[in-house]
Amino acid sequence: MDKIVEYYNELASTYDEDRFENEYGKFIDAQERLLLNKLLTDKNDVVLDLACGSGRLLDFASFGTDASEKMLEIAQKKHKNKKLVLSDAEQLQFETDTFDKIISFHFFMHLNDEKIEGILNECHRILKKDGKLIFDIPSLKRRNLFNFKSNGWHGAHSSTIEKLRQHPNFRISNIHGLLFLPIHRFPKFSRRFFIKLDLILSNSFLKEYSSYLVVEFVKQ
Ligand SMILES: C[S@@+](CC[C@H](N)C(=O)[O-])C[C@H]1O[C@@H](n2cnc3c(N)ncnc32)[C@H](O)[C@@H]1O
Repeated sequence: MDKIVEYYNELASTYDEDRFENEYGKFIDAQERLLLNKLLTDKNDVVLDLACGSGRLLDFASFGTDASEKMLEIAQKKHKNKKLVLSDAEQLQFETDTFDKIISFHFFMHLNDEKIEGILNECHRILKKDGKLIFDIPSLKRRNLFNFKSNGWHGAHSSTIEKLRQHPNFRISNIHGLLFLPIHRFPKFSRRFFIKLDLILSNSFLKEYSSYLVVEFVKQ
């Protein structure tokens, strides 16, 4: 089995608590929800959550897929009415031209260029005409600024707006920054002021210096 999938199978039972019950996780989760509410406005859209994991963002989709059986079991318990499918994101079990939107969070950052390319091809195949893929990716410019070195596959991948713009099969229709300031390190009482400032900075001309980029790709 793929080492990343094996890791998530083992982590599954504590994933939600481990990643999203702390201040950092809560902040990221809230920011991602704000963005998804802004980007997913058509209630009739058929939406897939790609690498949905334990179903954290499945409120925004009617279908989910993941390669970890254990993560999917947890997701299915939380979202009984969603159609969840076990599969590798590079070989999806869905028909061509099925989805209006695909969302995928905290996923591409684990993968190498070759794997991401294979997955982007699959997304392109299963998206309808003008369909959109919304995903996050760590910002390389931010990493370079702080001389960040990744340790193994976890968080290994990052990118730049310039590189993302060069993709031959997708065009960018939207880019947001996420997590410019280390909000989770600030005293609780002051955070709400910094959250507003963070939102302004993450979406200003400095957005590429945020920790993450949230990208909306349109199928070409
Ligand atoms: C950090 S979790 C993200 C889960 C969810 N999207 C979220 O934001 O909470 C990464 C997920 O990617 C899944 N994954 C890893 N490699 C995969 C692959 N090749 N195909 C499909 N899913 C994969 C893992 O099983 C895990 O559930």
